[in-house]
Amino acid sequence: MRTLVVGASGHLGGEVARLASTSGAEVHGTSTTGADGWSRLDITDRQAVHALVSRVRPQLVVNTAYRADSWAICADGAAHVALAAAEAGARLVHVSTDAVHGGRPEPYADDAPPTPVYRYGAAKAAAETAVAAIDPAAALVRTSLIVGDERSKQVQLALNLTTGRTGGALFTDEYRCPIDATDLAAAILELAENGYSGLINVAGPQPLSRADLGRLVATRHGLDPAAVPVCTIAEGGMGPRPGRILLDSSRATGLLKTPLRTVREALGVA
Ligand SMILES: NC(=O)c1ccc[n+]([C@@H]2O[C@H](COP(=O)([O-])OP(=O)(O)OC[C@H]3O[C@@H](n4cnc5c(N)ncnc54)[C@H](OP(=O)(O)O)[C@@H]3O)[C@@H](O)[C@H]2O)c1
Repeated sequence: MRTLVVGASGHLGGEVARLASTSGAEVHGTSTTGADGWSRLDITDRQAVHALVSRVRPQLVVNTAYRADSWAICADGAAHVALAAAEAGARLVHVSTDAVHGGRPEPYADDAPPTPVYRYGAAKAAAETAVAAIDPAAALVRTSLIVGDERSKQVQLALNLTTGRTGGALFTDEYRCPIDATDLAAAILELAENGYSGLINVAGPQPLSRADLGRLVATRHGLDPAAVPVCTIAEGGMGPRPGRILLDSSRATGLLKTPLRTVREALGVA
């Protein structure tokens, strides 16, 4: 299948491109710089997105591109990708986030309406609305903290804090459902194949605090988990933050062959 991975130079996009290529797909990818031999693309440029998609004529488009501080990239860019994919008649899988939710004790179902508290979550929620309106057949994958090798922002953060390269701390009371990048990429490609439409949660099976996630990363990298700086959200003094955003991924686990492993399993930490 001719596959276009938007954001192939990123962590998740790189995994999607690698797995798709391994399974025999003709993979085209994008980065903002043209790095790694991918096509240069800025998804805020509607004409450029249209031109690239018209040239590649993909059968599948996977949009993993984002920058957390940019509404234009997260929201407008996602709409541009969806429009171009629809014009090309391509299957679309769009990657969203648990940050569309505002946090609550119980897990969120796949189609729980967004209640964002951050600009990033609001932009990703806007993207979901735009993508679903443009292409109701698209799969919209809500996921959580993405872990894996050192390309993972979550792994980089934990290592930088633990070694003192950067200041700060990981919260003991901020819970998410982290997922391994390879598991997520495989799930995305399965969803692309099976024609799933609409929202679906694809996250790890085990809620973890950011502090515990950091400790597992430290252990995986031979560092002392006790050296991970931690504090509560209140002690961090960054204002109100959603404490628990847990995604119920039971629909995905029932639907997909790809196992969604715990972080311990994925990182190989006993
Ligand atoms: N990381 C997480 O823990 C996490 C958690 C929940 C959801 N997500 C979602 O998962 C997806 C992938 O996350 P990730 O951590 O793998 O991302 P990442 O490693 O930061 O990669 C982001 C990608 O987006 C590209 N990009 C940035 N600005 C762009 C623009 N203007 N036009 C086109 N492409 C642009 C980057 O290209 P360059 O390399 O050229 O900059 C890169 O390929 C995102 O949709 C994100 O919202 C991530």
